Amino acid sequence: MNKEKILTKLGKKVIYQIYPKSFYDSDGDGIGDIRGIIEKIDYLISLHIDMIWFNPFFISPQNDNGYDIADYYNIDPLFGTMADFEELVSKLRVNHIGVMLDMVFNHCSTSHPWFQKALAGNEKYQKYFYIRPAKKDGTLPTNWKSKFGGPAWAKFGNTDKFYLHLYDPTQADLDWHNPDVRKEAANIINFWRKKGVTGFRFDVFNVIGKSEILTDSNGDEKDEKKLYTDTPVVHKYLHELNRASFGQDSEVITVGEMSSTTIANSIEYTNPNNQELSMVFTFHHLKVDYKNGDKWQTIPPDFSKLKNLLFTWQEQLDEGNGWNALFWNNHDQPRALSRFCNTRKYRTQGAQMLATAIQLLRGTPFIYQGEEIGMIDPDYSSIDEYVDIESKNAYHILQKKGFSAHDAFLAVKQKSRDNSRTPMQWTDDKYAGFSTQKPWLTSTNQYTINVAAELKHGEIFKFYQNLITLRKNEPLISDGHIKALLREDKHVFAYSRYLDDSELIVLTNFYDEPASLELPSQYLQCPGTVLLSNYQRILKELPSSITLKPYEALVFKFN
Ligand code: NOJ
Repeated sequence: MNKEKILTKLGKKVIYQIYPKSFYDSDGDGIGDIRGIIEKIDYLISLHIDMIWFNPFFISPQNDNGYDIADYYNIDPLFGTMADFEELVSKLRVNHIGVMLDMVFNHCSTSHPWFQKALAGNEKYQKYFYIRPAKKDGTLPTNWKSKFGGPAWAKFGNTDKFYLHLYDPTQADLDWHNPDVRKEAANIINFWRKKGVTGFRFDVFNVIGKSEILTDSNGDEKDEKKLYTDTPVVHKYLHELNRASFGQDSEVITVGEMSSTTIANSIEYTNPNNQELSMVFTFHHLKVDYKNGDKWQTIPPDFSKLKNLLFTWQEQLDEGNGWNALFWNNHDQPRALSRFCNTRKYRTQGAQMLATAIQLLRGTPFIYQGEEIGMIDPDYSSIDEYVDIESKNAYHILQKKGFSAHDAFLAVKQKSRDNSRTPMQWTDDKYAGFSTQKPWLTSTNQYTINVAAELKHGEIFKFYQNLITLRKNEPLISDGHIKALLREDKHVFAYSRYLDDSELIVLTNFYDEPASLELPSQYLQCPGTVLLSNYQRILKELPSSITLKPYEALVFKFN
């Protein structure tokens, strides 16, 4: 496929993310399942999305909600059967919706037979993992920290060795230098391709390339990450995986979740010439409310930083022919609407504005379940209501660092991953129309925010439909270049999308107060049309100065 075709393909697609545990419970056990998703296919079709990324529903002890896989080839009975999955794929396919599966290859569960065989002394499988002796002084093989808190090493059975786990101790890191591990990964992908899967998301893939000789870091978190992030072998092994599996089908779409990556690496991962991935998820724009880079200390979002990050990434990826995923939300983030907007007064306008700002950028939009009805964070009052392993660890670690129990709770409340994992709110029922039983995680605001109410008299879902349709019909959005506008403006995020002789501009006010702006002179008195407005604005040309209403979003195309 030539470059233009690849971009058009990616640029016209919109991907929806389903967190299966929380989408719809068909069998009344309080946990979402595959049959539940099948029951809601009409809802998904009505949003006009092209593909669905499903968080993992493979066999797993669920210590990290499915990111601890014990069998990559089977569906966990918690979610259904292989027959259910096949039915889901085929019912989606007839409606032109593809399936994207989550491939967790940096680590597997310690319950996986590979790890169990390694523990039993099988040398072949011991080579699948990073198993190392303690240092001469008896301390751990390196001083690395787990991303979920505590050391990154755990005792390897009753030997005197340790195994590496960058995440939970039940998630053992796989050694990608071992060609057998790489072959296993390709086989798994090819197995699911045969079942009709046409999309793959690669979990934290840029940390697979640890060096074979592991060394201590200087103790600084950023420097430590550099020891195992974005190393050259990640590109090498990705290219190899591409050739051995998904890259054999030009229709397949892939996205790599890239933790703390760089623009240069992201271009390398996604430039079609390199045959690595279609696109990457990056997270820098979602760290603008971290105080000194610390997720658990929340400050008001730094808007200038946000703009600068989005613009720099967008413009440089465009220049380097890279491609990225466009998103505010996923299962690891608190709801963006709660984070960036005044939801008490302007939930609808805020949701519409955020969607416009991100979805019309250059890339492929991802919508996380519930975003299209303006779901917000739950309002929990006790740490016991949280389920997530990272949140629970953080609560204890913060107290060890000197936080009071109350402050540790507030920190978790702001940033917990459970904020986005609450059940999809279908109705105003006490279990949100998600289940007939008490769900695994509690909803608190389904009485006012739910699908039934939204479809009856809401303005968010319709707005999402319009945005998605616009992307499909407007080449400026699917294929156009990007240029930042009003870089220094303190309230407005604005950009131009242009291609050949045509151009449109997107203006969004990120604040709950009016924002006045002066447009660059080249746009003045140029006739055109409003493609989208969340305040029903009608304009035939742009005036020299405009005052945007709270969270206003305006898309104007020049004739
Ligand atoms: C990223 C996933 O999105 C997250 O949910 C998970 O905990 C980690 N990777 C570890 O697999």
